[in-house]
Amino acid sequence: MPGRKIIITGVPGVGKTTVINESILRLKEEGVDFQSISFGSFMFEMAVSKGLVKDRDDMRKLSRDEQKHLQQLAAAAIGKINGDVIIDTHASVKTPKGYLAGLPEWVLRELKPDVFVIVETDEDQILLRRLSDMTRVRDVDGFRALSEHQEFNRAIAAAYAMVTGCTVKIIKNPDHLLDKAVSDMVNLLR
Ligand code: AP5
Repeated sequence: MPGRKIIITGVPGVGKTTVINESILRLKEEGVDFQSISFGSFMFEMAVSKGLVKDRDDMRKLSRDEQKHLQQLAAAAIGKINGDVIIDTHASVKTPKGYLAGLPEWVLRELKPDVFVIVETDEDQILLRRLSDMTRVRDVDGFRALSEHQEFNRAIAAAYAMVTGCTVKIIKNPDHLLDKAVSDMVNLLR
């Protein structure tokens, strides 16, 4: 049975995975079950099996064609998953050659999203979160670069809405207000 497909995006380090995990726990307490799927993990498993990368943070430095091929494989596999699903991914990926659309037309066709969420917060908070996360090799962008990336993500989300008819919801995840971000997400999903 096809269920609801909710796509959740945000620049790296904004905290979308944190918001998703907390929201799923809270929804479970209410008897609402959502499966969380990391698009990046599907791509990473495929990239490792092809010997392309050893670290997930190296994927955005692969050639455009390699990234597009991995996207296609991940989208085809995720599109087959039934039930209510949250897909944790990126509206756009910052590559050395410019922004790569995270959900080009052939990916949207597989995923068929109902709602497209952008998680945002202030740029200085994103930078500090990136710097304090020792588990990842995140880009060290300044205020302007982060601001440009967040703006680009809003613009490309509008294009995704045009293609699919999905709605676009912006959820703020500021420091010390994770609980509010989770409540907003839970209200959207229940
Ligand atoms: P992926 O692995 O999906 O990235 P990710 O795990 O989602 O990590 P992010 O870097 O986006 O971080 P996050 O925003 O989830 O923050 P987190 O919750 O960890 O992607 C990996 C790669 O896959 C990409 O680089 C790309 O190459 C590829 N990829 C994925 N989708 C793709 C696509 N569609 N097309 C092409 N390539 C794709 O939180 C960060 C920190 O903030 C934590 O320390 C947390 O504790 C803290 N924090 C969170 N919320 C708050 C708060 N309210 N207050 C204070 N601290 C907070």
